[in-house]
Amino acid sequence: IRRSVVLGSGSALPKRCVTNADLAEQVETSDDWIVERTGIRQRYIAGEGETTSTLAGDASRKAIEAAGLTADDIDIIVLATATPDQTFPSTASKVQHDLGCKNAFAFDVAAVCSGFLYALGAADSLLHRGMGKRALVIGAETFSRILDWEDRTTCVLFGDGAGAMVLELQEFPASEAATARGVIETKLHTDGEHNCLLYVDGGPSTTQTVGKLRMKGREVFRHAVVNLANVLTEVLEGTGYEASQIDWVVPHQANARILDATAKKLGLPTERMVKTVEMHANTSAASVPLAYDVAVRDGRIQPGDLVMLEAMGGGFTWGASLLRA
Ligand code: ACO
Repeated sequence: IRRSVVLGSGSALPKRCVTNADLAEQVETSDDWIVERTGIRQRYIAGEGETTSTLAGDASRKAIEAAGLTADDIDIIVLATATPDQTFPSTASKVQHDLGCKNAFAFDVAAVCSGFLYALGAADSLLHRGMGKRALVIGAETFSRILDWEDRTTCVLFGDGAGAMVLELQEFPASEAATARGVIETKLHTDGEHNCLLYVDGGPSTTQTVGKLRMKGREVFRHAVVNLANVLTEVLEGTGYEASQIDWVVPHQANARILDATAKKLGLPTERMVKTVEMHANTSAASVPLAYDVAVRDGRIQPGDLVMLEAMGGGFTWGASLLRA
């Protein structure tokens, strides 16, 4: 069997940390409201000189170093973002230049908060097809730049950041299928019917403006819990694993209540959910690889652990990926 093995991960955050109390000076909100409804205590906000591509570059350098590789070893770069530096060229091509990955072809993927799952699915498929041996998969965002800072119902929820993983296609004897490292299965879904519940009200082909994020939070919440539970069940049934065998779930960090509700639906103890939402808020496509990297570096995720990644976001898009770390 062949699997895309995660050789290393990395992450990056902007310098400036903004607490709930800081936000309460700007909009009518409170630390109590934000913590109770979302679990968020602080977020990092990009300042001058910090963009999606610079955060992506910083996270990627750490991932390549953790993988024990150099920039030359990367064949494919897939970068998920909804907040690219520019409409074009792709942010991935800027990162390719910044890192000096001269052997890599690079492109962006847009699936908002599920972007990293889509990027991982794309990279894993390209590796299996022989389009390269090693892929750099990145989720990077600067959502602070598309927030309506006068809308307290959305501006308190998001933060900026980046996360990255390096994948390498490796071969294992079929007899080692149960223990072989790497991505076991990824499932992705889209339902465009609900694109009015979470969207940006601008774009090059419509308003010629960047636009601002708009969301009907309550309805998004309802769809998120149902869709996530469904896709997690689908991956477990497809691979023959039981929820009880999962060592760590690394969910998209939208809201602590969505994480808890999803864990409950699956019968998973909440201690096995990696939760970073209190520190980073919702960093959209960056949140899964960022949380993964935090849990690897603090020693929670160990080589050989069975890890479920999952996310849901605008589109709607959602997905899950089961891997052995
Ligand atoms: N501070 C204080 N009060 C607020 C704030 C705020 N920042 N925002 C809203 N309120 C008020 C509202 O005005 C409302 O007041 P009212 O009752 O007088 O009208 C009250 O709080 C309740 O508002 P709701 O929107 O009903 O609150 P809810 O309990 O649904 O929580 C939240 C809102 C946190 C957005 C929740 O719906 C949620 O988490 N939804 C999921 C959205 C999400 O995470 N999206 C991320 C992108 S998609 C994804 O990643 C899954």
